[in-house]
Amino acid sequence: MAVKPAVYGQSDRPPRGDYSRGGEVNADYTCAQNYAAYTAADHDTYRRLYERQSALLPDRACGEFINALPKLGASDEIPRFEAINERLFKAAGWQLTGVPGLIPELPFFTLLSNRKFPVTDWIRSPAELDYIVEPDIFHDLFGHVPLLFDPGYADHIQAYGQGAVKAHALERGSTPLRGAVEMISRLYWYTIEFGLMQQSKDSSQIRAFGAGILSSPGELVYSVQNAPHRSPLRSVPDLLRCMSSHYKIDSYQQQYFVIDSFEALMTLTEPDFTPFYQALAGTIRSACRTPEFDHGD
Ligand SMILES: [Fe+2]
Repeated sequence: MAVKPAVYGQSDRPPRGDYSRGGEVNADYTCAQNYAAYTAADHDTYRRLYERQSALLPDRACGEFINALPKLGASDEIPRFEAINERLFKAAGWQLTGVPGLIPELPFFTLLSNRKFPVTDWIRSPAELDYIVEPDIFHDLFGHVPLLFDPGYADHIQAYGQGAVKAHALERGSTPLRGAVEMISRLYWYTIEFGLMQQSKDSSQIRAFGAGILSSPGELVYSVQNAPHRSPLRSVPDLLRCMSSHYKIDSYQQQYFVIDSFEALMTLTEPDFTPFYQALAGTIRSACRTPEFDHGD
């Protein structure tokens, strides 16, 4: 069946990607990876992106990511989702599923809650090596998938999906909790996409774990070495500040949030968010709501 593409944020620009595919996109926006469609130039683009980005990781990416990256498999060509899935399911009970591009919030959150990670199956053009607005296969695979092999972090992503599905329901309930999805989307943005971690008590040991940073050469260097505004994310007041913070989708972030460890993030975000939404209700203004969006470099 044909599905309607998502329209995100305040942009009228339709999302990139073929959402029709002759009716081969499912109602939940998933689709098969069309591996035969990749050209030699596509594979070469992936190889070049992988090579450049992996060279930047030492002293900038968190140790958990560096250790997990080889589990992604081939670096000289676009990997097959089914090959990654064999290893990923054994390691953490997760599966990748192809999607034609950005998908709407509820199907996105629902997939996460079911331990399925949506991966855009097209790759940017060679002219977009340094900058792409929307997530492509390189962002989704390189940025997100290695840490899904970490069972604890993988559990956190599922819990996030479940929390976001609940936020979606609260926003549409009999007494709507306005802004709940926006608030939890901001948490996604500032952690899963653009999160930093302090890897030791030495404050110079700031490392990236967010996929938007890890897949972007410029922002990886900027966020770890030069960013002027980095705030801790270790207490409930920090969490409320994070969920109150607007974010940018088309430039480097104006602020970053720094966690102490994945375990600390999971403990902090474990409680029911409903009281947090209630506390922050009224502070939400119209803003981009984009649960899955890479701003590239
Ligand atoms: Fe992403």
